[in-house]
Amino acid sequence: MDTIMKAKDIVRVFRTGGEDFTALSHVDMEIPRQSLVILKGRSGSGKTTLLNILSTLDAPTSGDVFFEDIRYGDLSVEQLEKLRRDNIGFVFQSVALIPIMNAYENVDFSLRLAGVPEEERDARIREVLALVGMDERMMHMPGQMSGGEQQRIAIARAIAPKPKVVFADEPTGALDTATGLRVMELFSSLIEKEGITIVMTTHDPNLMDMGDMLYEMEDGELTHV
Ligand SMILES: Nc1ncnc2c1ncn2[C@@H]1O[C@H](COP(=O)(O)OP(=O)(O)OP(=O)(O)O)[C@@H](O)[C@H]1O
Ligand SMILES: [Mg+2]
Repeated sequence: MDTIMKAKDIVRVFRTGGEDFTALSHVDMEIPRQSLVILKGRSGSGKTTLLNILSTLDAPTSGDVFFEDIRYGDLSVEQLEKLRRDNIGFVFQSVALIPIMNAYENVDFSLRLAGVPEEERDARIREVLALVGMDERMMHMPGQMSGGEQQRIAIARAIAPKPKVVFADEPTGALDTATGLRVMELFSSLIEKEGITIVMTTHDPNLMDMGDMLYEMEDGELTHV
């Protein structure tokens, strides 16, 4: 198995009002390359905390995260930011498209942020909008799209700069089960076509067996289901 990311003995303690709260307790995790990894668990169990650490947004209290063979703890803040910019994409539950930009412009914006040169952007925008089945609605504004359509644009935006790993925290949380299933099918096809790896959280029992690997978080402890 080719492992793209690994977490070793991760502990995350939050200090609030002088009291320590252990949100993650000795978490070990392996993420196989080009796979769909699903993380389930009750509200408050630590899923977002773990995703934030894997995706460089937060640092563990102790333990190590590796991206390929790079240990986050060995990188400077600038190097970590560059690793994130070059390799990691994000999809959130609340879509957060820019409301005054149409679908095309929303994707273009993420490519500009990623520093993709202008002459490469147009073709890539059209390519990813076609991949998510939204190429005919390129000029639609977010307010003119359904929740599921907006989420597809958000996914197009996340994959456009060609990240190696996409972290999706409850990407189907605001969608009905049928639309959620379609997003999962889209993820599977993107993994195949674009070679990406997707790590997502969900509460929806209907979606949990659609991944290649299922982990469960319980009170900060992770088990491979
Ligand atoms: N910045 C913080 N400071 C203090 N406690 C925090 C902080 N972030 C999270 N926690 C606590 O850590 C625990 C895990 O939170 P986390 O957001 O990871 O849960 P979750 O599994 O993502 O829940 P949900 O399914 O509701 O999104 C919770 O008890 C939460 O209150
Ligand atoms: Mg969460």
